[in-house]
Amino acid sequence: MEKQELLYEGKAKKIFRTSDPDKYWVAYKDDATAFNGEKKGTIAGKGTLNNRITSIFFRLLKNRGIDNHFLEELSANEQLVRKVDIIPLEVVVRNLAAGSLAKRLGMAEGTALPRPVVEFYYKDDALGDPLVNHSHIKVLEIATSAELAELEQKGLEINEILKAYLAERNVLLVDFKLEFGRTEDGRILLADEISPDTCRFWDAKTKEKLDKDRFRRDLGNVEQAYQEMLHRLGGDIHA
Ligand code: C5P
Repeated sequence: MEKQELLYEGKAKKIFRTSDPDKYWVAYKDDATAFNGEKKGTIAGKGTLNNRITSIFFRLLKNRGIDNHFLEELSANEQLVRKVDIIPLEVVVRNLAAGSLAKRLGMAEGTALPRPVVEFYYKDDALGDPLVNHSHIKVLEIATSAELAELEQKGLEINEILKAYLAERNVLLVDFKLEFGRTEDGRILLADEISPDTCRFWDAKTKEKLDKDRFRRDLGNVEQAYQEMLHRLGGDIHA
């Protein structure tokens, strides 16, 4: 497999074409942004940690029957994925109130939700990724009702798998964001990443934050928190 030209550079990853038209080469970066790009920084070692953590979660999900784009790890911070057309929606699943939900609904951070909440955000940097409902999504012609039902159901299924897996590792899955893409033959696959950049992970006992909120809120020990998550997933990087 050969890495070819850069197709896209996002805030946390670069995507390259490969010699195989059905596969993309993804390089995870150490760059970190928050608040729609207003806060910028770097987290040493983040590219490697997120590549490893995402690989562990995507392998787990594949084993549990959730089709996804992950193919193989190529290096410490690179992975090979199946090519998909990303659906411009962020699918957020929440178990506890935190972040924008806590703010929007006036709930104290950490309040347990009686059932998981699924939300859709329209991926559009210029608009600041607004929250959208089913009617908005249909008017924008982003996805059909059947596809939305599938995204919601997959989000909830992934939540159950990850919640249980993390609970065994003393981690509380507060909330997380997923992205999905369409294959050329019309299937929907889980894509993008699942990492401390895109999830809220709390230590189950102390409620210590082990995710990007440490960067967003200047709590310090950001890299250590990402490392601790990889350690709990059993994927320590040995030099
Ligand atoms: O900020 P908010 O509370 O809406 O975030 C919910 C979840 O989605 C968090 O786990 C956050 O890390 C993730 N998220 C993300 N990318 C965004 C917005 C939120 O990964 N652009």
